Amino acid sequence: MQKIKKIALLTSGGDAPGMNAAIRAAVLAAYHYDIEIIGFKHGYNGLINQDFFNLTPKQVHGLINQGGTLLKSARCKEFHHQDGLKQAANTLIKEKIDGLIVIGGDGSFTGLLKLQQYWQGQVIGIPGTIDNDIDGTDYTIGFTTAINTAIEAIDKIRDTADAFERVFIVELMGRHSGQITFNVGVACAAEQVLSFENFNLSTEKDRADRLTEISKHIKQAQKNRQSSYIIVIAENLWEGGAHQLALDLKEHTQTDCTACILGYIQRGGSPVAKDRIVATKMGVAAIQTLLENKTGVMIAEQNNTITTVSLSTAIQHKKQVSQSLIDVQNNILALSEQSKRQY
Ligand code: F6P
Repeated sequence: MQKIKKIALLTSGGDAPGMNAAIRAAVLAAYHYDIEIIGFKHGYNGLINQDFFNLTPKQVHGLINQGGTLLKSARCKEFHHQDGLKQAANTLIKEKIDGLIVIGGDGSFTGLLKLQQYWQGQVIGIPGTIDNDIDGTDYTIGFTTAINTAIEAIDKIRDTADAFERVFIVELMGRHSGQITFNVGVACAAEQVLSFENFNLSTEKDRADRLTEISKHIKQAQKNRQSSYIIVIAENLWEGGAHQLALDLKEHTQTDCTACILGYIQRGGSPVAKDRIVATKMGVAAIQTLLENKTGVMIAEQNNTITTVSLSTAIQHKKQVSQSLIDVQNNILALSEQSKRQY
């Protein structure tokens, strides 16, 4: 078996709380196994621009509780083209890298698989994205912190919504996946959860029908003297976003609707315990997986156990929101607009 001497690490795509904890764990584990480790900056751009530095245990001291990423992150357009991939491969060859670990989401893993066409070293993915939309792992680093941040914010919005007896529309991140919207919506007792999984908007009629339905629902809640009404909505779902939905609903209900976009607050902050722990386990596992001579795999957590799944499986489909969560919200918790019962 060929000994691994030198490896590289980078963070790519949307940053996520806990990426730093994974960097720390990978660096400490590399040192434990006597492997040199360097970090490329700004995602795949660092590979193309040969922008890197040595990672040492001293540098990762005090990092576990910090949001963002020590290595910086970015999306990289050049990586969609052959030239960019070749340049990246040349840097890895020049620096005599045996293995590359990428912490990121499905877009980053797609790039990693493409890189394999030009570079023979081992590649390992660690799932790091607040979206929790990667197949094959129960958690992605950053998801738990992001939903806790959103829940805390919406609990505060609920106070002002109650005081002013207002309808609020809160837009959440996750441009292709409702994992954040559904989990946050249920945890905040939102009156409506509008996401890709329960909201079909293929035609104008779908949009109009849904507006009528939500309007009835709001009116019923007002009749029931409910003091606030919160709608959580996934970004990218309603044309024009939360602000447009607020205008559309106002027209239908003659009630003021206030839009609030939570935005990047969801990506920042100190990681919660779950993210620190899962990131630490995954960072160590990435080094051990390299030592087992594996390549083309993502580190995953399934049923509280760390395992690996192939990168191609991980990117094949988006992980679906659990059907039981959708059913609980749609069929049990949501006030039926037909319901005439006072409560
Ligand atoms: O993938 C993480 C994420 O925060 C998504 O939830 C969001 O849609 C996207 O990144 C925003 O990306 P950017 O900051 O590049 O616009």
